[in-house]
Amino acid sequence: MELTHIEHLGIAVKSLEEAIPYYEEMLGLKCYSIEEVKDQKVKTAFFKIGQTKLELLESTDPEGTIAKFIEKRGEGVHHVAFSTPSVQTCLNELEAKGVRLIDKAPRKGAEGLNIAFLHPKSTHGVLTEICEDPNKK
Ligand code: CO
Repeated sequence: MELTHIEHLGIAVKSLEEAIPYYEEMLGLKCYSIEEVKDQKVKTAFFKIGQTKLELLESTDPEGTIAKFIEKRGEGVHHVAFSTPSVQTCLNELEAKGVRLIDKAPRKGAEGLNIAFLHPKSTHGVLTEICEDPNKK
């Protein structure tokens, strides 16, 4: 099991258009990419701070997971994403140790990363994403 750093924090927002100016004008960060991930029914906006990113998530569907999250808990931190050289190796190890997985195999996330989610029931309430950058191999 090798996690190298926090790749990003996922933050659920009602509106990218309203949230981006806060990060840019108040915090002085720069949004370098906006991308829709159809598969996950979200539009994402990325900021970089050191080697860690912030991923703002706006739902594109009232039934999507981000819309449901905001309905229940309001805007805020949605998930933590750890970077690893191999998502599949992590998943195999975690499953063998009894951790519940949402994804048993990596899928494509924003920025072309291979990603997988662990179930918050097994992670003390933190929705956990692990990701690898296939371009860094
Ligand atoms: Co993420």
